Amino acid sequence: MSRIAYVNGRYLPARSATVHIEDRGYQFSDGVYEVCEVRGGAIVDQQRHMARLERSLAELRIRMPMSAGALAVVMRECVRRNRVREGIIYLQITRGVARRDHAFPPTATVPSVVVTARGLDFAGNERTAAEGIAVVTVPDNRWERVDIKSISLLPNVLAKQAAREQGAKEAWFVDSDGQVTEGSSSNAWIVTKDGKVVTRPADRGILRGITRTVLLDVIKAQGLELEERAFTAEEAYGAREAFVTSASQIVMPVVRIDDRPVGNGAPGLVATTLRAEFHRHAELS
Ligand code: PDD
Repeated sequence: MSRIAYVNGRYLPARSATVHIEDRGYQFSDGVYEVCEVRGGAIVDQQRHMARLERSLAELRIRMPMSAGALAVVMRECVRRNRVREGIIYLQITRGVARRDHAFPPTATVPSVVVTARGLDFAGNERTAAEGIAVVTVPDNRWERVDIKSISLLPNVLAKQAAREQGAKEAWFVDSDGQVTEGSSSNAWIVTKDGKVVTRPADRGILRGITRTVLLDVIKAQGLELEERAFTAEEAYGAREAFVTSASQIVMPVVRIDDRPVGNGAPGLVATTLRAEFHRHAELS
């Protein structure tokens, strides 16, 4: 079965789906994106992802090219046409096609919309979660507006590649004060020796992950103590547990940071419990 992509009003076989060479996403990374989990064929936390999408667009002064309702229909249709049960939807909106000029294009320029959906290896992800992943730390050299989910991801690309080359699955960015900000495509968490769950406040230093937001409810429901504060790589080395969160990985235990074992070097009880409980708190649509 060939994959189907939605591109500017049409559902096309992915291999023949293309965008214009003067699309501002292609030329300037002038656009935003969202990734939603698909579970049992349903879209997870779609409303929250749509709200963040609208915020990202507003921050960049890109107009919403269609209503949130119409976009929801397109997303559902992409899941259906690609027969995705467990996987992700990727949605990208750019400022559209215009002759190359850094400043905004004429106001009539129509934003470009691409939506794709694909299956993920559910059993493989569960096996990875049972083993836990390694992370490495890298300097955070991104711009100040990482709260916007922009497609401009070069530092994230380089960080993830650095992780791969060191046999790790994720890179944690560390700011100039030595504090961990977030992962290259995930939010970062630790559990202290006395059982407190710690994650950086969602200020402008990180993306406010939807998984992170839902997990705050799960943590409360589990009666765990939460501390929203920054932590250093050194504190993480000595933590009882560590984990990352994102739409594609939900809660993924971290068992090594910069080649040092975290806790006893195996996924911890808090991360494992939060992973198991997550979907009881997420919204399906
Ligand atoms: N990444 N921080 C960054 C830099 C991210 O790219 C992501 C998500 C997150 C977690 O956000 P959420 O919980 O809403 O997925 C945090 C997506 C999955 C990606 O780029 O593929």
